[in-house]
Amino acid sequence: MSKRLAILISGRGSNMESILAAAKSESWDAEFCLVLSNKPDAAGLKTAAAAGIPTRVLDHREYRGRRPDYDTDLATILQAERVDLVVLAGFMRILGVNFTTPFAQRALNIHPSLLPLYPGLNTHQRALDAGDSKAGCTIHFIDETLDGGEIVAQAEVPIFKDDDASTLAARVLIEEHKLYPRVVRDWLDGKLNPTSNPTTSARAQEARS
Ligand code: GRF
Repeated sequence: MSKRLAILISGRGSNMESILAAAKSESWDAEFCLVLSNKPDAAGLKTAAAAGIPTRVLDHREYRGRRPDYDTDLATILQAERVDLVVLAGFMRILGVNFTTPFAQRALNIHPSLLPLYPGLNTHQRALDAGDSKAGCTIHFIDETLDGGEIVAQAEVPIFKDDDASTLAARVLIEEHKLYPRVVRDWLDGKLNPTSNPTTSARAQEARS
């Protein structure tokens, strides 16, 4: 039976687009049952709707002071859709145990740094400020820690002397668009191996040399 995928976004949704494009061109055996945003004005919602995918907004502003309830409601929506895998693609919310427990090992996120370096925001500027020689992106299963959870794949790019945060972000984004579809397809094929191991940490160390 086709696996049921949901994508969570907060903005333009270019990673979502790269996944949808790969699914189409490679005829994945998967159904995109929902694209959900925490922001009503996320541009990616229009893209998803144009691709014929149901969309929904779960606005975090309605949950002020009730963060755990947001996580519960999000999990409930996705469970009602019988989602097999949740793909966080630029979803700018930290999710707590009410979400990460029911979706343990079933929710992937992409982060624009070589984790464990630079969890959180402004990753590209932080890599530049540190004088790193490499940057990149990481795909990991989520847990309740910020950009934590088991790492499943990384891609590297060089940092050049004349880079600023935007030139570096653009170079990293090209790799994000290649890596995320590949990882989701591997998951569909049962080939995804979490590699939260010395290799990925070594890569992060190397970036600093
Ligand atoms: C990407 O750089 C992603 O790694 C980060 O937020 C950005 C989202 O971009 N988490 P998009 O919405 O997929 O275009």
